[in-house]
Amino acid sequence: MLKRFALLSLVSVLAVGCGDDTTKPPSTPDSGTDYVPTGRGPGASLRCKSSNKNAWDTFGVNAFVAVNEAIFTKVGAELTANGSKNLGDSFSKIGTGETPAYNDDAATFKGKLAAFLVYAYGGPESITYTDNKQYTGPQDMVKAHQGMNITSAQYDYFIANIVVPALTDNGVTGDDVSSCFAPIVTDATFKASIVGK
Ligand code: HEM
Repeated sequence: MLKRFALLSLVSVLAVGCGDDTTKPPSTPDSGTDYVPTGRGPGASLRCKSSNKNAWDTFGVNAFVAVNEAIFTKVGAELTANGSKNLGDSFSKIGTGETPAYNDDAATFKGKLAAFLVYAYGGPESITYTDNKQYTGPQDMVKAHQGMNITSAQYDYFIANIVVPALTDNGVTGDDVSSCFAPIVTDATFKASIVGK
């Protein structure tokens, strides 16, 4: 990571040195011309309005951990308040092994979701989560949700009432939600990989 930032700074210095970009005031968000994201996930090429960089390069590891934890806290609160009314009953089956998709316990689910989000939004393909275990980002969403019968309404509720508030509670602006987070989870093909399986 440090190495990458060092390299990016070097590239910027070189660009300025070549007389390429000398008129850019220091407070202007990066123009994007000297920014090359290293991640390969589907959101790596998105640009946050605030920074002109992807979500991972804009917010970094601490924000991704905080948002992931907030997602789980909010799911818990939702289930306590409304039971299965809005999210269905899949979350109550975690770790039961009822079908293969329910094999992982809650801690593993948390680490895997974090790794998926980091990868999907431009970060590395594997991470060490807060439990000191390693998790891999690219995962098969169909397999992960097989047998859960998640409905379109449950999916939309999860995004609107759990994921988006988890982002905004942690300081992501509405503009950044729209520009560098939402396009992945509102993509019809992505949604179809989770709903109705
Ligand atoms: C942005 C949308 C979503 C993403 C990125 C996502 C991501 C994931 C990932 C990465 C896993 C694998 C975890 C594992 O294998 O342990 C997983 C499993 C699971 N997902 Fe989702 N999911 C999404 C939407 C939903 C929705 C809408 C629901 C329910 C309403 C749901 C319920 C579950 C459950 C219950 C598991 C199984 C946990 C287990 O027992 O291992 N997911 N999801």
